[in-house]
Amino acid sequence: MEIQSHISLQPYNTFGIPVDAARFAIVRSVSEVQSLIKDGSLKEKHLFLGGGSNVLFTADFDGLVIKNEIKGISVVREDNEFVWVQAASGEVWHDLVLYAVEHNWGGIENLSLIPGTVGAAPMQNIGAYGVELTHVFESLKAIDIRTGEEKTFLHSDCSFGYRESVFKHAERGNYFIASVTLRLNKSPKLHVQYGAIQDVLRDSGVEQPTIQDVSRAVIQIRTSKLPDPKILGNAGSFFKNPEISADLYATLKEQFSDLPGYPASEGKIKVPAGYLIEKCGWKGKIVGNTGAHKNQALVLVNYGNATGSEIMQLAHDIQSSVLATFGITILPEVNLI
Ligand code: EPU
Repeated sequence: MEIQSHISLQPYNTFGIPVDAARFAIVRSVSEVQSLIKDGSLKEKHLFLGGGSNVLFTADFDGLVIKNEIKGISVVREDNEFVWVQAASGEVWHDLVLYAVEHNWGGIENLSLIPGTVGAAPMQNIGAYGVELTHVFESLKAIDIRTGEEKTFLHSDCSFGYRESVFKHAERGNYFIASVTLRLNKSPKLHVQYGAIQDVLRDSGVEQPTIQDVSRAVIQIRTSKLPDPKILGNAGSFFKNPEISADLYATLKEQFSDLPGYPASEGKIKVPAGYLIEKCGWKGKIVGNTGAHKNQALVLVNYGNATGSEIMQLAHDIQSSVLATFGITILPEVNLI
């Protein structure tokens, strides 16, 4: 494994922000990660990077960036009902989805086309169209960055929440996720309650949807609505959907009768940040090199030459106007580096 100096991270982040890493290495095996631990490299400032699809670089990275390209997908267990599939953390998430869909194993078809790697999926408990990783997650293997030892995290060890896990909080920075095991279903119950999925299935004349149909529908929705980072730099949803009190929701409903709301934990109501941002006039608005996307206001985009600071400035301005209009603080989902 070679450690390179002064490498541009522009190809390694889907926002396409042109920053440099002081040092840069690609790891292709767990033992390469362990050798970085042994030689002390991980005692210094470092960053593990998967697909770079959930980060915003606001400055050059003055440390070691480690790009994860550890590959491999295998079946580790099987019974009449389920199959347990283990995938290395550097696998592209969507490749794992395609593998599952091809084998007719259900559980992650709604998570088709989510950008990023398998290792990043549990970090933020990825979710879309009524399904979250937590629904199929069995366990993961991680390397303790302080000791180099391997540890297994079971579902109950991960504290999954909405775009949350223990790896973003109590164990932040302590572990390198090496592989993830999912329990997929051989005769799954499909999740097609999400309105947009129902619309696509109806329009395509599908009455008895299969796993493949659901995956295809999700791919169609995402490609029609969300900008392709290869064409227009972005990191998916920039903010999390906020959860507000039922009282505040009722008050806002009087003024904004079309405000969507979904029941969340502790009696709270989750409201779509995309709605709030759109109502504040940001949808499709272009500010210098940046803007909120015309089809989905929650996605901030780089129109070509944006810096991370410009995108941060836009994000701050959006946060301020959402706070002023609705009294709601929206927080980034993207990791700010
Ligand atoms: N909406 C607007 N204006 C907009 C965008 C959305 O009014 O510009 C409203 C609409 O009422 C719509 C509702 O927001 O019905 C929900 O929109 P959408 O279905 O696009 O979902 P979202 O809540 O904005 C979340 C996830 C997405 C995921 C979709 C689909 C978060 C932060 N985002 O977005 O995940 O694909 O649901 O399930 O939870 C991501 O995390 O990067 C991501 C793309």
